Amino acid sequence: MYILSSNGYYHFYVLLTIIFYVIELAKSDIGTASRYSPPYSPTTCFGNDPTQFPSSNLFAAAGSGIWDNGASCGRQYLVKCISGSIEEACVPLDGPIQIRIVEFAENIVSEASSPIASIILSNAAFQTIANMSISVINIEFLQ
Ligand SMILES: *[C@@H]1O[C@H](CO)[C@@H](O)[C@H](O)[C@H]1NC(C)=O
Repeated sequence: MYILSSNGYYHFYVLLTIIFYVIELAKSDIGTASRYSPPYSPTTCFGNDPTQFPSSNLFAAAGSGIWDNGASCGRQYLVKCISGSIEEACVPLDGPIQIRIVEFAENIVSEASSPIASIILSNAAFQTIANMSISVINIEFLQ
């Protein structure tokens, strides 16, 4: 029915556009982020290669949920702070930050401190989106 008139075409593409955006939104995950401190090298992904770290120092360790058996190395994620244990947990920002995976969370965090966060951010990355007086935040993230 939709495709019989030119107006129908319009409705069809509006519908497709809406479906596209709903799918895009649905891809974004909710999780937690903690932070880790230097020394950052050698990493599980790239060893001592100094070029692995973005100049912004916005990088992170992948939790087991996104580690993907090492396939996540080098992947970029958009990370947004949602909330934390204090009211000023998140730094107000226009948008999410982009981080690069260089490490496996289980290789830098002792099993005692479980449950391991979805993503463990470099101090620089954590500091960009959250208050350093806390160590865990709730995040929205998207590859
Ligand atoms: C961080 O949180 C503390 C309370 O724990 C607050 O006093 C401080 O103003 C916050 N810093 C920022 C930059 O929001």
